Amino acid sequence: MAVTRTFSIIKPDATRRNLTGAVTKMLEEAGLRVIASKRVRMSREQAEGFYGVHRERPFFNDLVGFMVSGPVVVQVLEGEDAVAANRRVMGATNPENADEGTIRKAFAESIEANTVHGSDSEENAATEIAFFFSEDEIIG
Ligand code: CMP
Repeated sequence: MAVTRTFSIIKPDATRRNLTGAVTKMLEEAGLRVIASKRVRMSREQAEGFYGVHRERPFFNDLVGFMVSGPVVVQVLEGEDAVAANRRVMGATNPENADEGTIRKAFAESIEANTVHGSDSEENAATEIAFFFSEDEIIG
């Protein structure tokens, strides 16, 4: 398996509860390395652009409102098969369906306030990384 990259967001429900370190620890324990990280307050335009694929979904406005409700921590993660490794440790989107030992099982409050976002494919990871980071901010 190859060492690859994925993109992660620690969402406002987690930064509000001071869980940035606890979430990052679980990512690291899953074999992922944080090779770029910054805390940002997303603008509405940024959030709408980032989640553009969900624009027609009924939860889109609420999702955007939630993502701009507080600071987030955007990260680039690197590791063996990083997209899959990150999705395993995140757990199911809906915390009611998340397995024990996952970030969302441990911390998520609801399907919306679900603590973390992670890319669902390597192609989307590349797009999402480029949305927030320039190459010189990523130190592998
Ligand atoms: P995320 O991985 O960030 O991608 C889209 C987000 O929409 C998802 O996590 C959820 O937090 C959020 N969301 C809110 N409501 C729903 C829903 N009904 N189905 C799927 N995702 C939802």
